[in-house]
Amino acid sequence: MSVHISAGKGEIAKVVLQPGDPLRAKFIAENILTDAKLVSHTRNIFYYTGTYQGKEISVGASGMGIPSIGIYSYELFTEYDVDTIIRIGTCGAYTPDLKLFDLINVENAASESTYAKFAWGNDDEIISNQGKIFSLINDTALESSRITKTANIHTSDIFYRKDEGIPTIAQKYNCLAVEMEAFALFANAQYLGKNAATLLTVSDIIPTREQITANERERALREMIELALQSVLKM
Ligand code: HPA
Repeated sequence: MSVHISAGKGEIAKVVLQPGDPLRAKFIAENILTDAKLVSHTRNIFYYTGTYQGKEISVGASGMGIPSIGIYSYELFTEYDVDTIIRIGTCGAYTPDLKLFDLINVENAASESTYAKFAWGNDDEIISNQGKIFSLINDTALESSRITKTANIHTSDIFYRKDEGIPTIAQKYNCLAVEMEAFALFANAQYLGKNAATLLTVSDIIPTREQITANERERALREMIELALQSVLKM
């Protein structure tokens, strides 16, 4: 049991799939995993452990934003001996060169956030994915002909902003899209010597204001979830 997760020791698998939304975690547990058991529901942030093609996997939410994923990923890595976290989420594209439903395997996350600095004394503005899981995802995507782009992304603390232009940090590091969590996940994994990847589906194109609908979201997410799960089988 940790401060924010009530599962017992040993009730969480070495590999965790982490969507932002607790109901998405529930959907994965109920529809894609086998024999999934609810192991934590503190704050309605559900964690389940089950199997996928015989491999034990947990799925649970990160919540939204850097502080939230910072807490959950830290507790999973340090209190539950988790080796690998794969964030599965959505992002907004800064460029119409990306299309709705495009799948991105994040190479590096750039952020104005001071999280890495104050948590770990890490002054870097950009942090890479950690360990081998990024490459395993790329290999799996190639084998299954799922088109997956690798890109730098911007992890922002802000969802709604008054300025429509691409933020300076995103221009500096050629970030094609924005989300709100990957930087903290990568910072924690880097400091703790763990594995972390982030897979994102483009849910909105910021310059054109196109968006996928709630129903479409579910279909898009299924592909991303299956890519993540099949990649885990290679570990
Ligand atoms: N901004 C930040 N995070 C997001 C967005 C966005 O436009 N779309 C999906 N996640």
